[in-house]
Amino acid sequence: MKKTVRIKINGKTYEAEEGESILSVCNRENIDIPNLCFNEALAPYGACRLCMVEVVNGPGKKGMTTSCTLEAVEGLEVVTDTEQIVKYRNVLFELYLAQAPNSEEIKEMAAKYGVTKTRFAKKAKPLDPLGNKCVLCGQCVRVCDEIMGTAAINYIGRGFHTKINTPYLEKNDACMGCGACAEVCPTGAIQMEDIYDKRIMKSWSGTEVKLKKCKSCGRYFAPEPIAEFAYAKLDPEIKEELKDLCPDCRRKLLSRKEILISQGEVSKNED
Ligand code: FES
Repeated sequence: MKKTVRIKINGKTYEAEEGESILSVCNRENIDIPNLCFNEALAPYGACRLCMVEVVNGPGKKGMTTSCTLEAVEGLEVVTDTEQIVKYRNVLFELYLAQAPNSEEIKEMAAKYGVTKTRFAKKAKPLDPLGNKCVLCGQCVRVCDEIMGTAAINYIGRGFHTKINTPYLEKNDACMGCGACAEVCPTGAIQMEDIYDKRIMKSWSGTEVKLKKCKSCGRYFAPEPIAEFAYAKLDPEIKEELKDLCPDCRRKLLSRKEILISQGEVSKNED
């Protein structure tokens, strides 16, 4: 079991697990800190720099640092809203407004902190596959690699030309079409669409993933690799009869079976 430590945030004492990120503690305690690249399910990354706090006391280095990578230790004391932090954060918001001029999510987040304009030149690129909404926070890259184990997308290019996409901007068979990348993207940059029997990952070089058809209702319900993945996890006793059924038809079949079992018409192991 992890040790509990006492830390101070803005002069108030809180308990935290030793090693827990300060941003997690702030989220839990409703202390507002903007962030773009933090996700509890992923390893801390420290890319967006929006989550800055200032360490004013404690065993380590003092000064400004990212709260998503700062770990709770006994006696740590931070402040979250100094003039310097607000200035730094506002410049970052201006940069993100220029980098992702089409992202309503970025506009909304920046406006919440009082930033509605940018002094930087907007970097809209024609035909950007991410719709000029990406700020390179990398959540999509990390969820694809760390959670799905797929690594179908990555950073490509350098400096100003860095972008996220499939290798060589080609369709990538490794993509399972799970959509986790779109789910975690904080700027609404990733586009995908289900067209008849295919999921098209529009942002990922038009990568296509076949959808599985439900053998009962005929509806296309999930990308084939994801349906296979879920199928592998099913209870072996009922696996065969549930194979290739969409979640709705699975539920209907199971509840019909439950009713028959409760009426004594079918034994638990009967088909
Ligand atoms: S959330 Fe901490 S650097 Fe992005």
